[in-house]
Amino acid sequence: MKTLFRTIPRLLCIAFLILLSLPVMAQETTAEPPADAPYKNASLPVEDRVNDLLARMTVAEKIGQMTQVEKNSIKLTDIDGLFIGSLLSGGGGYPSDNSAEAWAKMTDTFQEQALKTRLAIPLIYGADGVHGHNNLEGAVIFPHNIGMGATRDADLVQKECAVTAQEMAATGVFWDFSPVVAVVQDIRWGRTYESYSENTDVVTQLGSACVKGLQSNKPFVLATPKHFIGDGGTGWGTSTVQGYMLDQGVTRGDEANLRDKFLPPYKAAIDAGAMSIMISFSSFGGMKMSAQKYLITDVLKGELGFKGFTISDWQAIDQISGDYYKDVVTAFNAGMDMNMVPTNYPTFIRVMTKAIEAGDIPMERIDDAVRRILRVKFMMGLFEHPMSNAADLATVGSDAHRAVARQAVSESLVLLKNDNNALPLKKDAPHIFVAGGSADDIGVQSGGWTIEWQGRSGKITPGTTIRAAIQNAVGSSADVQFDRFGNFKKAVDAAGNPLHAEVGIVVVGEQPYAEGKGDASDLALSEADMTDINKMRDRVDTLVIVLVSGRPMIINDALKQADAFVAAWLPGTEGEGVADVLFGDQPFKGKLPYTWPKSMDQLPFDFKNLPTTGDAAPLFPFGYGLTTG
Ligand code: GLC
Repeated sequence: MKTLFRTIPRLLCIAFLILLSLPVMAQETTAEPPADAPYKNASLPVEDRVNDLLARMTVAEKIGQMTQVEKNSIKLTDIDGLFIGSLLSGGGGYPSDNSAEAWAKMTDTFQEQALKTRLAIPLIYGADGVHGHNNLEGAVIFPHNIGMGATRDADLVQKECAVTAQEMAATGVFWDFSPVVAVVQDIRWGRTYESYSENTDVVTQLGSACVKGLQSNKPFVLATPKHFIGDGGTGWGTSTVQGYMLDQGVTRGDEANLRDKFLPPYKAAIDAGAMSIMISFSSFGGMKMSAQKYLITDVLKGELGFKGFTISDWQAIDQISGDYYKDVVTAFNAGMDMNMVPTNYPTFIRVMTKAIEAGDIPMERIDDAVRRILRVKFMMGLFEHPMSNAADLATVGSDAHRAVARQAVSESLVLLKNDNNALPLKKDAPHIFVAGGSADDIGVQSGGWTIEWQGRSGKITPGTTIRAAIQNAVGSSADVQFDRFGNFKKAVDAAGNPLHAEVGIVVVGEQPYAEGKGDASDLALSEADMTDINKMRDRVDTLVIVLVSGRPMIINDALKQADAFVAAWLPGTEGEGVADVLFGDQPFKGKLPYTWPKSMDQLPFDFKNLPTTGDAAPLFPFGYGLTTG
């Protein structure tokens, strides 16, 4: 009898706990939705579709929507088993057969798996298309943003991003982690070339143009202005990553500076329709951006009225404190909506589930994040068009797309010196010597974020090198000789003496790099480049130097040797755009997007107190550029 009396209260407790849990479980119906469920009706307002779908979702389905996994890390059956809402290719994340068709097959296979789920919510596949669909071999590679910044041409940037979107959508990549809208204050940063400029207005104008271009079709390709906020304003030596100096560092200045310099591009991008924003690795005020509730929730979502969703950078929330449970709680309570995990997603899902059950992340925060994600998927047309745009496969790398990139190259080149009107060159100059390590290399002229994350020298993708473009431009009307090292031993005159050419073009600059691996304390031209320049000086009448680089470099000695000096930035696959302006088929009209230093000890510039004359003045000011024709 005693045992019975002891047991009854325990049974009552268990019954009470079951009753308590019923309301949550009652919401967690896993019934098949009716065929006419409102969320499936494309004619209904987006918010009605969101409300209907959200109400049908279990906690597990909600967490799945907030989870982004890198494609090499996902188990196919986990896509439907864990309701994964997004996958990505990181830099260089191409399928083994790096063709448009293979990309489309890859993303369609993932999507078919996602559509097997009870609610059939399409997943969204993302990649970095920062100067074309640049992980894909055969895609058109545009000049990097530093070159697009030199064009100051918003219409052209919009066209570039529309072309990029068409090539990405053809392969089922409906999310572009682009444009970078960093306002770069120190060109020693390895991501200088990913940004349009040091100038807030230029970045604001061109960043919003790219958002419009990416999102110009239906289904549109989702733009992602990045990295919020202050990624381009970090201090040298403040990086939290071993070996990096600026990348992922601490943004200098106070909140007024942050708002004045770095916020306008986000406001303009949101006004242009941006519906996803990537949160930066960098820190401000002693806190990682991924943890900044004031800046993400109060400023971005509150003041700026951002109605889309935020995405973390690559495993960035893990950097907040190192205690993963706390980091997940902190990031999502700060306003993060989706986690670019990107590999260990089972742990993330387990931690997220625990944090919700413990009440450490309130359900209304989860619902707000999922609402934002669903809103975007409905708005962009993904429910109606979840599969790759097969009809556009033929546009990938097309002549029409390459023509847009060629125009961009021509408009991006900045003429820094042109003594005695050396440029434009005559196409019938009897002898033209071409030399230099950057003259005949598609990988070098494309830079980082091309096929591989860090880029790579060599024939990495179809395109026209600067050397080939020069040959094409002059045809048979001139004798063009190429010697990478500028020796031209075989070039002799009738008497057997070394031939002296009328024109010499030396193409020099940087090898590819990306992110913090490009942080540099010395931006001098290499000795090898200077050797090539000096050798050519002795062999030609008119010496033209073309610099292929991701930022201004220290060029004082080279500049003295040159009759003409051209900043070509990282032009991408369409080298003809360089020949077009060298030979006068197009005019030079590019303007410097960055102030050009005389020496490294001028960096970082104090833009508020920049001398305009004397040794302390920069070599060339922001906006400088000579014109021709
Ligand atoms: C990188 C970059 C970010 C990119 C992401 C996915 O680390 O910081 O710009 O979008 O990872 O590749």
